Amino acid sequence: MEAQLNNRKIVLGVTGGIAAYKACTLCRLLVKAGADVFVCMTEAATKMVGKDTFAALSGHPVSVGIFEESKEISHIALTSNADLVLIAPATANTIAKIAHGFADNMLTATTLAATCPVAIAPAMNSNMYANIATQDNLKTLVERGIYIIAPESGELACGTVGQGRMKEPEDIFEDVVAILSQRIEHNKNYHQLNISQDKLPAPKKPLELTQTKLLPKSIGVGLKVLITAGPTEELIDPVRYISNNSSGKMGYALAQAAARLGADVTLISGPTNLDCPKGVKRICVRSALQMLTAVDEFVTSSNIMIGCAAVADYRVENISPIKIKKTDGSDTLTLKLVKNPDIIASVGLRESHRPFTVGFAAETNNCEQNAKDKLKRKGLDLVVLNDVSKTEIGFNSNNNEVTIFDKNGIVSHYDKQSKDVIAQLLMELIINRAKN
Ligand SMILES: Cc1cc2nc3c(=O)[nH]c(=O)nc-3n(C[C@H](O)[C@H](O)[C@H](O)COP(=O)(O)O)c2cc1C
Repeated sequence: MEAQLNNRKIVLGVTGGIAAYKACTLCRLLVKAGADVFVCMTEAATKMVGKDTFAALSGHPVSVGIFEESKEISHIALTSNADLVLIAPATANTIAKIAHGFADNMLTATTLAATCPVAIAPAMNSNMYANIATQDNLKTLVERGIYIIAPESGELACGTVGQGRMKEPEDIFEDVVAILSQRIEHNKNYHQLNISQDKLPAPKKPLELTQTKLLPKSIGVGLKVLITAGPTEELIDPVRYISNNSSGKMGYALAQAAARLGADVTLISGPTNLDCPKGVKRICVRSALQMLTAVDEFVTSSNIMIGCAAVADYRVENISPIKIKKTDGSDTLTLKLVKNPDIIASVGLRESHRPFTVGFAAETNNCEQNAKDKLKRKGLDLVVLNDVSKTEIGFNSNNNEVTIFDKNGIVSHYDKQSKDVIAQLLMELIINRAKN
């Protein structure tokens, strides 16, 4: 989460709607996620929230008037190297201006000069929103490839009930991550995809105004994705257990990415300290046997299964019902371990109702060969190899570096970067493979 927007430059436009106060939270979320945020306000917005608030939150001077501009924050400099211009809230007035190419203040001039993606989150009284003038303006923007983060329905600040309330900052943040993740993919696969530009291309199809989340891709819609994550704990007695160092971060990031892509996601999780990702159904288990039971329940209805959990290979044969005491006269304690069932193999080797099956290979030595063996032995469609002997990636780290294999060899490699970004790239690859 922390590094999700590292090295991203975002111009946050704030206009004169009552929801301007929510832009403070949005700004904070973007900065917290690593983005370099430059706030650009309209005159009307400054009547709602002070410039200084945004300057403090973003760590940069805030621009308003076009003639106040310095060299560093001119309307051209603001968008150069920007990854996204995000206007939240966007008033009816500013939407109209953008639709007609106005450049009469810093924000409209900046938007007109932008070569990066532009996303706007309209916020206004429901009659203003429903007005054909506003709808026509939005339609124009949609057709030009601008992302519209559609407002929600509910009680508005003016007392009326209807559509026009700006989406919550947390939800807008999610939309921003989704938009920018796709850009990362294009950059990463620059040569492979032969894309002749380093910016996110405009969406190919006009986006629907009625969509609540106007994301560039919803490739997961209609798919059921089952993911296991985290460690398992194998009891020795009521107070002790055998476990491993898995934090669950990679599996949780995958679940979040799959949900963002529109999939119906069930996450079967061993014990972790992580919050359940938004829009994901989580089932908490403890031992390998419990995890297997949960997987069995969902596997036949799943299209994709990703085994990301670090399932204990062995469990204690006879769990002591009472706490084992230190015994006098003996320096050793012998525990008999028995093999746990191989959960991912039980899915990969299914003869019917078999989902597209992806396993993870956390290896410390002879990595590539071990990963390929695992793919074959367990009947996987893909195996994702990460070298956990490297401390800067793998277990407990926020970063990862992975290589993906299928039965023909290497499919793709993602250099060291945040687990969230890796998860987004991996999910898109997995979904595309599963569909073909
Ligand atoms: C208290 C108050 C709240 C307002 N809220 C909104 C709003 O939510 N949406 C909107 O489109 N206009 C709203 N307006 C009207 C805009 O502020 C007005 O249209 C202004 O010209 C917008 O300028 P701007 O687009 O340059 O920020 C509000 C005005 C006031 C006084």
